[in-house]
Amino acid sequence: MKKLLLVSALILAPVFALAAGGSNVKLDNIQVDATNHESLQRGMQLYVNYCLGCHSAQYQRYERAARDLEIPADLMMEHLVFSGQKIGEQMTNAMDADQAKGWFGAPPPDLTNEVNLRGADWVYTYLRSFYVDESRPYGVNNVVYPNVGMPNVLAEVQGIQRKGCGQVPMVDDSGKTVFDTLTGKPMTEESCEVLLVDEGTGEMTPAEFDQAMYDLTNFLAYTSKPYLQESKSLGVKVILFLLFMTVIFYFLYKEYWRDIH
Ligand code: HEC
Repeated sequence: MKKLLLVSALILAPVFALAAGGSNVKLDNIQVDATNHESLQRGMQLYVNYCLGCHSAQYQRYERAARDLEIPADLMMEHLVFSGQKIGEQMTNAMDADQAKGWFGAPPPDLTNEVNLRGADWVYTYLRSFYVDESRPYGVNNVVYPNVGMPNVLAEVQGIQRKGCGQVPMVDDSGKTVFDTLTGKPMTEESCEVLLVDEGTGEMTPAEFDQAMYDLTNFLAYTSKPYLQESKSLGVKVILFLLFMTVIFYFLYKEYWRDIH
């Protein structure tokens, strides 16, 4: 029994370590949607334009993405495949890991499985949580991933985001919103950890930027589980097949036992 406990503790240890690694920041919740091809297409476009230069997605092939996201092959080649790659190739880049480590302190990891590793809420919140911090080498820090080596590559799109003071929803120790018992309205409190974008500094409005980061996260959720849609529709077919076979076997059973009773 003791051995069993020890073994299960060892197996679970990395899971807890990973969960603890993300600090105690409250993550914004999103529902990824593998059937929303328009969102996935926009997400892929953002990925190849802003991320692929540093982060490969080496377990994802362009061709497979073209098929799953319903992007015609010629449009894929024209707008999404750069650096002379072929459509059957994986989404790699020419970044040298050792050199990158020198530049950023850590090489940019491959992101094909990032959503499996961290969760969609984490990635979505991370991408919207860069803020100005002059003490960091690239002048930015991140609330979700403190002291991250990644520069804020989306600064011109989002605008300049800083920590400032403002009202935030009040939460109790378990992270639930506190409501005013008299009015029933959510209570707020003053905080100087609020992320605010300097007005007019970004190409997108905050709402547009949130949507863009949703699309990008949705795309990374797809590369993490490219078979999800297929397995869902296959699951339905398998269950229908089993139901059909149950009927056949029922009659077969009747047939076998007919003369015995
Ligand atoms: C200029 C290079 C560069 C670009 C472009 C870039 N990143 Fe990064 N990114 C990094 C580096 C370096 C790290 C690792 C930082 C570390 O570990 O401190 C990183 C880390 C990350 C992580 C956290 C990985 C982890 O440890 O779990 C995510 C998620 C991420 N990047 C997403 C993106 C996305 C999405 C884009 C495109 C919008 C992007 N990055 C563009 C350099 C880059």
